[in-house]
Amino acid sequence: MAGRVPLMAGNWKMNLSHIDALGCLQKLAWTLADHHYDAARSECVVLPPFTDLRTVQTLVEGDRLPIRYGAQDVSPHDDGAYTGDISADMLVKLGCTYVVVGHSERRQYHGETDEIVNAKARRCLAKNLVPIICVGEGLDVRKAGDQVAYTVAQVRGALAQIPASAMADLVIAYEPVWAIGTGEVATPEDAQEVCGAIRATVAELYDAPASEAVRILYGGSVKAGNIVALMAKPDIDGALVGGASLNPEEFAMITRYYDLPM
Ligand code: 13P
Repeated sequence: MAGRVPLMAGNWKMNLSHIDALGCLQKLAWTLADHHYDAARSECVVLPPFTDLRTVQTLVEGDRLPIRYGAQDVSPHDDGAYTGDISADMLVKLGCTYVVVGHSERRQYHGETDEIVNAKARRCLAKNLVPIICVGEGLDVRKAGDQVAYTVAQVRGALAQIPASAMADLVIAYEPVWAIGTGEVATPEDAQEVCGAIRATVAELYDAPASEAVRILYGGSVKAGNIVALMAKPDIDGALVGGASLNPEEFAMITRYYDLPM
């Protein structure tokens, strides 16, 4: 993990209205404060639906919460006739730091290709937003033993035309599709195998400093009960958490994984 600040990002997906977001975020902040949370030891990030962002911004800025936030998607375009889309500039104005791009649910239900994911990641970087680029194989690929080749190809596609200097401002999340929302977490060894291969790919595409700078997360049924073993692996720098991030007490525990027993 050498020099990389661990990142715990809660992807709320299509859950919690802007009213529910207030309660969830307040509880998360109180729980962290009660336990003397130290942002230098792990970064706490929430990724709510677009409609919650203004509320989240008001609370985080007003109460100076040690929590960053971001969006679950962004348009690859600057502005114009793209009904229903949200631009990077709009997210910047709402104080977002992060944007999830290429989540498997968007690849699956919205036909997002590696080219679209790459365009969205580049749009984020151009606007100083940190893209969290999601990659990961489905069950059929895993059963065939092709998880490394499949995921590495997605990484190569997502990073096209992105310079080495961007690697410190970019996050890659390995989320095997078969582990998302299923309760079936990848073993730490399985997660490390692919996260290690992703880092080696960044070294190959760029250089060693770039591969040491990029943060690589694991996602898929992460809970307080399995985060410690995952974080013990050298190439896992944090987690992209779905279901468990809707429970502020549990997400606070995941954020403070370093205080949890093995
Ligand atoms: P779960 O933690 O609910 O499996 O979701 C993972 C995920 O997709 C986060 O982006």
